[in-house]
Formats: sequence, C-alpha cells, structure tokens
Amino acid sequence: MAEAQVPRMETREIAPDIPSGLELGLRNYWYPVLRTEELPSERPVLLTVLGEDVAVWRDAAGRPQVVHDRCPHRGVRLSRGRILDGHLQCAFHGLRFDGTGRCTLIPWEPESSRLKDEVRVRAYPSEELGGYVWAYIGDAERFPPPPLAAEVPEELSNPEEFVWFRLPTEIWDANWLLTVDGGDAFHAVTLHADSQSTPSENGWKGGTIDPSDVPLADRRVKIVDTPHGIRGISVDRDGEPIHHGHLTRDIRGERVALPGIHTNPISAAPGAEPYAARLWQFPLDADRTWVVRFLTWRARTEEERTRAREIFEDVALPRVRRVSDEDARIAAGLDLVAARSDEFLFEPDMDLVRIRRRLRDAFLAQRDGERIPLARDAMAFPV
Ligand SMILES: [Fe+2]
Repeated sequence: MAEAQVPRMETREIAPDIPSGLELGLRNYWYPVLRTEELPSERPVLLTVLGEDVAVWRDAAGRPQVVHDRCPHRGVRLSRGRILDGHLQCAFHGLRFDGTGRCTLIPWEPESSRLKDEVRVRAYPSEELGGYVWAYIGDAERFPPPPLAAEVPEELSNPEEFVWFRLPTEIWDANWLLTVDGGDAFHAVTLHADSQSTPSENGWKGGTIDPSDVPLADRRVKIVDTPHGIRGISVDRDGEPIHHGHLTRDIRGERVALPGIHTNPISAAPGAEPYAARLWQFPLDADRTWVVRFLTWRARTEEERTRAREIFEDVALPRVRRVSDEDARIAAGLDLVAARSDEFLFEPDMDLVRIRRRLRDAFLAQRDGERIPLARDAMAFPV
C-alpha cells in the first residue's frame, strides 16, 4: 500500500514508525504457535501469543482448536479444563465449548435449552501443516483468513519436493520489533564472523568445517544491492570475499514478508547444497518473542535427502545454534522505545526502514478495515 493512503492522523506513536499497539504484533495473520508434538491429545495447552492467553487442544478428530483462555461464565482459565467429547470443558462449573467458540453444554440446563447460544468464547481458526500447529490470531469475521497454504512457505505443502528440519522453538527476552530489526542482512558478517564464516577454497566433503582463518581485524564489509535487498558481504582488506554463506544471486521472493517472516538463503560451505532458513518472530508479550525456525533443502530423492540431513547435522545446526544465541543476546540488551527513538541510520539501514514501514502500514491498514495479504511470491522457495 502506498504510504499516502494510510490514515495517520489519530495514531499515537510510541516511537518513530511504531503506532501504539504494534508492539504486541500484527493480528490477522497465521502463526506457527506449536510444533505438532507439543500438542497432546489428552489435555489442553496454555499459550501466550500476541499478548493474549489462549487455550489449545485437539478435538475428537485430532484437529487443533484455539480459543481465548477465559470461560465467559466466571473467567476461569479454560486451559485448566478437560477435553470431553472433543470439546473443551471448563474445570469450574462444566460449561463446554467447541473450536468455533460455541457453547455446547451448560450442565444444569436441559439439552434443549437455548441459553447456550448466549455465551461464546472468542475462537481462532487453527490448522496443522508441515509439523506445526498454526493459529490465525485475529478477527476472522472482519478479516477472513486466507487459505493457510497461501501464506506459509511453499515447501510445507510439498513434502515430495523438499525436506525441512524444524528447530526447537525459542523465547527471546526482547520485543518482537527489535528481533525483526535484528534480522538485517548486513550484520551477519560481523556479529556471526566466528560462527558463520568458512574457508573459501575447499569444497565441503562432509563433516564439520572450521571458520575462515582471515583474522577478524582484517575483515571488512562490502554492501551489495541484490534482488533480495541490501546484503553485506565479508571481504578481506584486499576486497577478496570470505565465504560466509551469503547468496546474492538468483534469489526469489522477499527477504522479510508479513507479519515478519524472514527467509535467508544460505550456502553452508562452498560446494554444499544451499538451503533456506525460514524464521518467524512474533510477540509472546511486549517483552518476549517467540522464535520459530526451520531449514529447508530442495530434495526429491533419498540420496538428496540424506545429503541434506548431513549438511544440516554437521554444519547448519551447530551454526544456527550459535548464530541464534548471538542474535538473541543483541536483541535482549535493547529497550524498544529507547532504541527506536535515538538512532543514527546509514545507507545500508534503509532496507530495515522499508521493512519497519511495511509492518507499520499493515497495522494501520487494519484499523481502516483492510488486511494486507502476503506478496504473491513471498513464500516461494528462494533458491
Ligand atoms: Fe544474526
């Protein structure tokens, strides 16, 4: 959406480009709230997402269901209740609800009583795909959810063509807008210099790899403009590139899509098949962020899948663990309002400014009754 179309007059900002409320996330998008194995069939799970407590359970058919975690009767947490006949029953007085939020039982009323129609709990559309439980946190009547497959990475709907490895979900001690800022594409060559660089000459033959032996003091950053946005390339003092996993050519799609999904095409080492790191960062509450990540390889044959697993286990996984720690530590040292109110931005930061404004515009558009969908190719496999 063009900036001029966004009404901004009545919007209070808590810092430049952060309208009040955006610190708790963008509603009306699909979020990977749990990994499949984290949702048992016998009991509900309590989750906090975008600052709101929700109860998640599996219905009689095993499908995930998500509702606001308060019984409309006396406000007790539904996540402390029981699953009976596939519906969630409040532990306190036994009101029962289905996944649409409809009350299906008031235990002291006759079955025929219509009193049930007068109480509802807020419900969120939910689905399972690719090893994740997805929830559309928002107002589904006002902003009907798009089909899940249209707004998540294409590989999740294509298991014959791709293999992906899910990482354990993390919680970072920082506001989500700071963690999205932390995904700019020119910090990696500095912050992750030890954990991500590799010798440039030798092709990967299997096994772990050592970091580049170019001394840190001799490393510089070259900024390049790519179809995938601005990127930083690691070079030595003579301008010779140091292998850092950064791919700069033949990349499709957007690096950061709504509601803050990062796609990073990585080459773990020279000669190793490239993969895409997919990363969601969304608020738990105003001070903590859910970090959900998986790595995908294009792999059709058993041989390609085995090779992808070797790259994942030997090189990518140990690296992602270190990289993630490094990123989490940077974000956790920041206060949102202070950080965003006092900055000195350089030319390579302009990508970040565009991403911040896209999040802001998507937030403001919803106040105006419009939901901005993901760009059409945003979730295409990037390499
Ligand atoms: Fe990073």
